[in-house]
Amino acid sequence: AQKVLLFGDIGIDDTVALIYAYLNDEIDVVGVVADYGNISRENALANIQYVRTLLSSEMTEQVTIIVGAEAPMTGELPVYVPEIHGEFGLGPIIPPLNFMNGITENFHEIVDIIKENEDLLIVNIGRLTSLATMFLLYGDLMRKVKGYYVMGGAFWVPGNITAVSEANFYGDPVAAQVVLRYAENLKIIPLNVTEQAIATPKMVDYIDAYGPIDIVKPLLDYYYNFYKERNPSITGSPLHDVLTLMAAIKPDMLTYERLPVHIVQAAEGTERGQSIADIRPFLTDGEVEPNKHDIAFQLNYKQFFMDFMTVMSG
Ligand code: BDR
Ligand code: CA
Repeated sequence: AQKVLLFGDIGIDDTVALIYAYLNDEIDVVGVVADYGNISRENALANIQYVRTLLSSEMTEQVTIIVGAEAPMTGELPVYVPEIHGEFGLGPIIPPLNFMNGITENFHEIVDIIKENEDLLIVNIGRLTSLATMFLLYGDLMRKVKGYYVMGGAFWVPGNITAVSEANFYGDPVAAQVVLRYAENLKIIPLNVTEQAIATPKMVDYIDAYGPIDIVKPLLDYYYNFYKERNPSITGSPLHDVLTLMAAIKPDMLTYERLPVHIVQAAEGTERGQSIADIRPFLTDGEVEPNKHDIAFQLNYKQFFMDFMTVMSG
């Protein structure tokens, strides 16, 4: 199985991604880093522990839970989004709120996880603050990681937080820029493809009837209601974070293009956190080209559908 270290702000689609990972034999989750974002870091910690109790097995017991970042690198206070993810990050569900439950601040344990696991992939499905911190502190070590998959950005399509910006990059544009500067073998999974990775109410009902986990339906119904109210023409909820995790084990599911990309560092305004890919065939005098990364532009929905349904309905 592919070893994965997951960084996430464990709200609704992050939780479904975590459940998908635990149910999938092709994925071996070696650690989960709890970050602020959709909800507070403490709520993320509580949700990770709650999901583990639902899927309790020898495998989930061995997953290291890491206390990640509680606020962005910009120096601002964190801003949460309870209107999308619910007060505790799980829609209508109130998980046991024993936030720390024996966990102490242990960010340095990421170092051991990376040292001990060959061929490790890192998948980041929330704000990039913790991952950027790792690059600033442990540059050499981070080059040992086989590859990075980051959910974030919107390229020539509407944003989901401002007209042009996506939430994970908007929430901490400084961290996003740090990661883009230092990461090698990085794949960006933007809204261009994640908004196509739709779970329809029919799919959710099927998973509810045949799958082993009964919180998937209440989570995704809540999520769908929010999206539907905002945009009545949508047919289901976008599984941004599930798609990003899936990309790490299904190399053909997405089609990528390698382009120079940078993140707008404005403190405020529409363009804060905007992801810009440069498709000019030239540079102007004195201009430094930003690093090139693989950006996903096309999704094979049929493959997404088959894989998601197979894994989630057991
Ligand atoms: C991203 O922002 C969060 O709300 C979701 O969990 C996802 O990671 C989508 O922009
Ligand atoms: Ca997320």
